[in-house]
Amino acid sequence: MVKDKIIVALDVPSKEEALNIVEELGDQVGAYKVGMQLYNACGPEILRAIGERKGKVFLDLKFHDIPNTVAAASRVVTGLNTFMFNVHCCGGSAMMKAAAEAMRAEAAAKGIEKPLLIGVTVLTSLSEEELQGEIGVGRDLTEQVAAMAKLAKESGLDGVVASAKEIKIIREACGEDFVIVTPGIRPRDASLDDQKRVKTPGEAVADGADYLVIGRPITKAENRTAAVRAIVEDMEQALKSC
Ligand code: C5P
Repeated sequence: MVKDKIIVALDVPSKEEALNIVEELGDQVGAYKVGMQLYNACGPEILRAIGERKGKVFLDLKFHDIPNTVAAASRVVTGLNTFMFNVHCCGGSAMMKAAAEAMRAEAAAKGIEKPLLIGVTVLTSLSEEELQGEIGVGRDLTEQVAAMAKLAKESGLDGVVASAKEIKIIREACGEDFVIVTPGIRPRDASLDDQKRVKTPGEAVADGADYLVIGRPITKAENRTAAVRAIVEDMEQALKSC
């Protein structure tokens, strides 16, 4: 269902605030994103608490370390009510393969459905000048995104996080089955907050995004259910005219 594409970013500092949102929205959305702020405030207990309320979790901790360490972390989060989690592609293919193998082995051992393992290609907060001048990457930004997505696929990852403007090049590099998770989504009349290059929910799904990460347009809405309903309608309209 279209609503299952929505992942609500729980960018709040406490368990109480996060669970209020989960209890209010329930299964009107597909999943909830727990990032560094909430996870570091609450620990793995927050994943269990969301699971008890039947919520699925995208654990957005962006692992990046030596293969053995990332494999161990991937093993731990598999089974903690994690439906999706992520690693940085710039950790390299050995690291990504180790994460994917550990996650698959752990899911099989526990007899649970395996999570989706997603790569972060290039942080969208980085400019081309920073990527090349500070980090020393020789390729231009778009080529780097496509190369990292391809490497992620070859290393056994299920997909990548990408800005909506990168969807086309990733589809070309990695094909239709590769999962694309897109933040930077704003309904047409919503505040941009600190986002710069945004797409509407309809535009993002029409461009081929599989999942949309949406935070403030839902969590800060006066009526969260109405905000979700409007987003679902926008996606349905766009998909009808595709
Ligand atoms: O509130 P908003 O919809 O802007 O939240 C977007 C979420 O997606 C935040 O949790 C943000 O950290 C995350 N994100 C992003 N851009 C990226 C990667 C992640 O906005 N490139």
